[in-house]
Amino acid sequence: MSKGLSHLLVKKRQHEPIVMVTCYDYPTAQIEDEAGVDIIFVGDSVGTNMLGYASETEVTMEDMLHHLKAVRRGVKEAYLLVDLPHQSYQTPSMALENAQRLLAEGADGVKLEGGIEQVAVVRTLVAHDIEICGHIGFTPQTLGTKGRVQGRSSEQGKALLRSAQALEQAGLSLLVLELVSEPVSELITQHLHIPTIGIGSGRYCDGQVLVVTDLLGISPLERKLFKRYERLRERSTEALIRYKHEVQQRSFPTEDNSFTKISEEEVTVLKRWMEQGMPDDSV
Ligand code: KIV
Repeated sequence: MSKGLSHLLVKKRQHEPIVMVTCYDYPTAQIEDEAGVDIIFVGDSVGTNMLGYASETEVTMEDMLHHLKAVRRGVKEAYLLVDLPHQSYQTPSMALENAQRLLAEGADGVKLEGGIEQVAVVRTLVAHDIEICGHIGFTPQTLGTKGRVQGRSSEQGKALLRSAQALEQAGLSLLVLELVSEPVSELITQHLHIPTIGIGSGRYCDGQVLVVTDLLGISPLERKLFKRYERLRERSTEALIRYKHEVQQRSFPTEDNSFTKISEEEVTVLKRWMEQGMPDDSV
């Protein structure tokens, strides 16, 4: 059975942490789903992590749809959340049209960035039964690629709390807090009824999200906000160098990797035909 929003709300009420990870392709979606991740998230970080773009602002609706379709094919259980990319939700009607395109390709919910200024967009989507995840704190679509911690003064904390409350009242279902100081993200989490999902926002959010290429060690980055659980970049390079050497030294493929079954008579017939100049014997 797939994990709907009610499953996530129960987790918040029961103080069970929610696990969310970004995902951009079919095999990783299968792996994340099999690992029991609650929310598989096609983030606009696909741009910098998979497409070689300089920033999230280059990501288009077509990019998101392409990756969503691949991920959808691999997800059976998890809640499938997808980002609305930069400039795809500038007005409520634009947001509705683009959110509906993502839902039509199998998204369970959509995420958008921004605070109190997004209330009208959120209300419009909610009126059309669309489940929405907000994203406040550091917001890459508007604040660029260099993350800075938000909520470091009472004034900043008040603005974040006001945004969180207004978005929840507008009907938001989930809220990502990116790079928010731990005391402020804890206050927001305690104040809201909907789950908060933190990234670089400390220990007290209802759940955590990481970028899959960071946690698996595919990206070369090292940052305080995440932890590497693998070192796939180094391990993949080592594996490829081993493969290169074996091909160069003719130790791969071996007989075990080869399809050798053809009788000696058949090979003799073939060689004789070649010696005869490969005549056209099909007529
Ligand atoms: O696109 C993304 O990866 C995100 C996460 C940082 C939450 O928005």
